[in-house]
Amino acid sequence: MPFADFTLNDGRKIPSIAFGTGSVLKGTDVSEYVEQALETGFSHIDTAQYYETEESTGRAIRESGLDRSEIYVASKYSGGGEIQQAVRESLDKLGLRYLDLYLIHEPRAARGGFEAAWQEFEKIKKDGLSKSIGVSNFNLEQLQTLIKTANIKPAVNQILFHPYNYAEKKTLLEYAAQHNIVIEAYSSLTPITKLPGGPVDKVVKEAAAKRGVQPSQILLAWVRAKGVVIVTTSTKEQHLREYLGVADIEPLTAEEIAAIDEAGARKPWTSWASITVQTLFLYILGFLIGLGVMDLLLGLSGSRSSYK
Ligand SMILES: NC(=O)c1ccc[n+]([C@@H]2O[C@H](COP(=O)([O-])OP(=O)(O)OC[C@H]3O[C@@H](n4cnc5c(N)ncnc54)[C@H](OP(=O)(O)O)[C@@H]3O)[C@@H](O)[C@H]2O)c1
Repeated sequence: MPFADFTLNDGRKIPSIAFGTGSVLKGTDVSEYVEQALETGFSHIDTAQYYETEESTGRAIRESGLDRSEIYVASKYSGGGEIQQAVRESLDKLGLRYLDLYLIHEPRAARGGFEAAWQEFEKIKKDGLSKSIGVSNFNLEQLQTLIKTANIKPAVNQILFHPYNYAEKKTLLEYAAQHNIVIEAYSSLTPITKLPGGPVDKVVKEAAAKRGVQPSQILLAWVRAKGVVIVTTSTKEQHLREYLGVADIEPLTAEEIAAIDEAGARKPWTSWASITVQTLFLYILGFLIGLGVMDLLLGLSGSRSSYK
């Protein structure tokens, strides 16, 4: 069973898992990886002005032979140059007549203020250069500010989202839900890739073992359970198959989701801190034992010399 589409607040559909061409792939020729992702079953490709991967993404799309309607392409305005010119340059690089989704990559990219930048985005949608428009890395306050003057609500907000930052993103998620703004999650594999050894590992491993699947699949199943679009990436076909296979694994139970939320709220550094304290304690103990042994030896040698 493939990943289902979500419906955006502008009525358009978005595939709920995307292959990203940023992060580790930034500045590289991604054509081979995008082709691999399309062949494996991804239909949603995420790129950005900043990633410098639009040209090679476009090449891969052309070489796939897929019809434009079968591929969902998202790109982002990252703050380089004027917005109307930037979207046309992105389209040129991708070799496309329209994007499915165009995002303000981060609040700082809207240099002339949110209101002015969003008006440019609304024009992009009206002109048909992008079917949907949205934002990325906007916090609650920034999203509220943007919506105050928007004629068209952003369709999505793409954010950093994983169990260790879930607690702080909860109100943003609630606000987005009220406005039918879809949340897209990037870097959701952080507990594996960047913060291994934290409290989330145990619960994720247990849920994975129970189903005979990979911990990465449990993390993505958790994102899915939160009603959030997954934006991930991989250079390896095996990992891509694992990501797509998340749609077929037994859904997480309410208890498992709550256990991951709770472990995420404890933050990885709490376990690192306890490991550091334990290590320090062992060092001190070793040092004291060492001193004791030295003392004993010196004492023995001292008594021997005094004996002499
Ligand atoms: N809007 C923004 O500001 C923003 C910021 C960052 C990212 N993004 C988007 O989100 C996409 C994904 O970001 P991300 O790379 O941080 O996502 P991620 O899904 O957290 O991590 C993907 C990485 O995990 C590795 N991986 C997969 N399975 C693994 C395993 N079992 N053990 C160890 N490593 C494993 C993959 O490496 P392998 O190649 O080895 O499989 C890949 O490099 C980007 O490409 C970009 O499109 C957006």
